[in-house]
Amino acid sequence: MLIFNKKALLQDHLATAIAAGTSIGFVPTMGALHSGHLSLMQQSVNQNKITVVSIFVNPTQFNNPDDLKKYPRTLEADAAKIKTLSDDIIVFAPEVDEMYDGNTTSQHYNFDGLENQMEGAHRPGHFDGVGTIVKKLFDIVTPTNAYFGEKDFQQLQIVKKLVVKNNMPINIVGCAISREPNGLAMSSRNERLTAAEKEDAAFIYQTLQEAKNKFAESSITTVKDYVAHAFAAHPEYKTDYFEIAPEDTLEPATVKENTKYRAFIAVFLGNVRLIDNISLN
Ligand code: PAJ
Repeated sequence: MLIFNKKALLQDHLATAIAAGTSIGFVPTMGALHSGHLSLMQQSVNQNKITVVSIFVNPTQFNNPDDLKKYPRTLEADAAKIKTLSDDIIVFAPEVDEMYDGNTTSQHYNFDGLENQMEGAHRPGHFDGVGTIVKKLFDIVTPTNAYFGEKDFQQLQIVKKLVVKNNMPINIVGCAISREPNGLAMSSRNERLTAAEKEDAAFIYQTLQEAKNKFAESSITTVKDYVAHAFAAHPEYKTDYFEIAPEDTLEPATVKENTKYRAFIAVFLGNVRLIDNISLN
């Protein structure tokens, strides 16, 4: 398995393939890999001649310095997991300076308002950081297809907007959320939950599924009240937000219209912040 730390060496390696028009699949990650990440890689391997996976804990997208410090860095274990899928996957694992050249700041982006909702409102600067690093990585890898999880649905929509606004000829592929057997959405942050908390956290997806059932016959306000009451009865959770929004605008809705909706949640369980979402119709 090839692991590159320098962008120039990766680009040299990919040059012949790019000149020949070979399809390149790209899966950007921050490492601490789990089955959710691996499912994106599997999809890329199935659909492209070459797959590149990046592993880079991007400092500019962390609004909380402690979260950045605590973020797990497990390159060796990650490489071993990737190898179980395929020995042909190319890994790009640069240092911070290689990506930011001594200037660890974000570019400011306008994603037509997508950046102001939910995660954007609760994590100032987060999507500027994501936009900055994804643009840099796309410029280096020049993928045909790039794979993003619906786990971070707002990020997926923002990356789709990024390529349109920058006229980048990259197909963005949204991938289904991988879950633990009890329904908890897989996340690198789950490692910070105790075994008892992980079991308890099944409640989040159960509540989203109930919200989906209720959405079929009730108003948005009724569904939101139901979820607020459900979490109020579980004081171990602190809700950051619960919103119902159209998939295209992500603007929290109050009245149902003829469009595709999703429910989005961010909650703290102890000091671990968890997000999840579900398609409603
Ligand atoms: P990270 O959190 O490592 O996630 C990498 C990719 O895996 C993202 O597209 C994310 O949505 C997807 N993913 C994570 N958990 C998933 C799950 N349970 N099911 C399906 N997909 C899942 O997202 C990032 O890194 C960063 O913001 C990044 C895009 C790499 C930019 O730094």
